[in-house]
Amino acid sequence: MTASAPLRLNNISKRYGATDALKTTSLQVAAGEMLALLGPSGCGKTTMLRIIAGFTTPDTGDVLIGDTDVTEFAPRKRGLGMVFQNYSLFPHMTVGENIAYGLKMKGIGAVERTRRVREMLDLVRLSNFEDRHVHHISGGQQQRVALARSLVTDPKVLLLDEPLGALDRNLRESMQFELRVIQKRLGVTSIIVTHDQDEALVMADRIAVMREGRIVQMGTPTEVYERPNGQFVSEFLGTANIFEASPVGPAGDGLWNVRLALPDQPMVKVAGPEGLSSSAPIRIAVRPERLTLTSEAEALRAQIRDVVFRGSYYAYELELAGLSKPIYVYSREKTAADLGGMIGLVWPDRYAVILPEQGQ
Ligand SMILES: Nc1ncnc2c1ncn2[C@@H]1O[C@H](COP(=O)(O)OP(=O)(O)OP(=O)(O)O)[C@@H](O)[C@H]1O
Ligand SMILES: [Mg+2]
Repeated sequence: MTASAPLRLNNISKRYGATDALKTTSLQVAAGEMLALLGPSGCGKTTMLRIIAGFTTPDTGDVLIGDTDVTEFAPRKRGLGMVFQNYSLFPHMTVGENIAYGLKMKGIGAVERTRRVREMLDLVRLSNFEDRHVHHISGGQQQRVALARSLVTDPKVLLLDEPLGALDRNLRESMQFELRVIQKRLGVTSIIVTHDQDEALVMADRIAVMREGRIVQMGTPTEVYERPNGQFVSEFLGTANIFEASPVGPAGDGLWNVRLALPDQPMVKVAGPEGLSSSAPIRIAVRPERLTLTSEAEALRAQIRDVVFRGSYYAYELELAGLSKPIYVYSREKTAADLGGMIGLVWPDRYAVILPEQGQ
């Protein structure tokens, strides 16, 4: 990324009493990119967003928007758009008046205001709602008004803090797609805060996974999901099956032959970093949807403990001798084997990854 990235944070940190809300953090967001801040409650997501917005002063570091250091700027001087979970529309105003508000504050004339408001209404598919009072529209519609209101002033960066948090699940899922389409169409550089991993995977170009005031991994949705850098990321982004193992030797193509720390199981192949030492134990992570149940003789041997129908797949809980935790397999097909019966387990080599030792 170049020096003119629309948003840069240099060595930002924030402490409240004994709490490191945000440890020293630097990041850049590229033009038109949607970055998701993802992590459990209290990990510092809102703190980071509030520092960018100017509602919280960092203890150290600088916030740069374009080439301007805005660390000392008041929020309204930063040229940002914001949408929060409780989108707090102005209750006594119509949809159109809510959207026009920011333009009015900027001293933009009535004709231009009307034109821009109509453009935004069209964008969020609320063209027939301009004169409706905001408490006479649905939650999803209110959310779209909040989005239109934040975009109408043509912000340099859009900040979204759990913007869909108040919506029920179906509406939330359709809004995720809709919001992403609008963000991409306008090409507005954006940061979305969420603690919902599916939301981050669906919406973001890159995800920063946070834990206890730090970014522990940053990458595309595929990278953080398929190649987590540790157990924390791997488990936070969905269900992960974790195995203890020892490397036996390279198997070519970036793969390793490894022996699981379990009795009477065949050798398996996994993808992993260069230069593994065969003496050091490792941990392997495999997603439930990557595992396949099979009757092949070369497979791992497992016992079926439970199966639950989840609509689009069957969730199997398996027990492997010597493993304290169950293994989960998501399968589109129902196996003919009975509960309590033995079954084989295989995975495509490249979808089992070695978790780095230094990882979280
Ligand atoms: N104004 C404040 N005064 C004292 N402590 C604060 C303040 N704001 C945040 N904190 C603390 O800083 C930490 C990070 O809070 P933050 O609100 O950034 O978390 P978050 O990741 O947004 O969590 P959530 O998902 O619950 O919204 C928490 O331990 C929180 O209690
Ligand atoms: Mg928060």
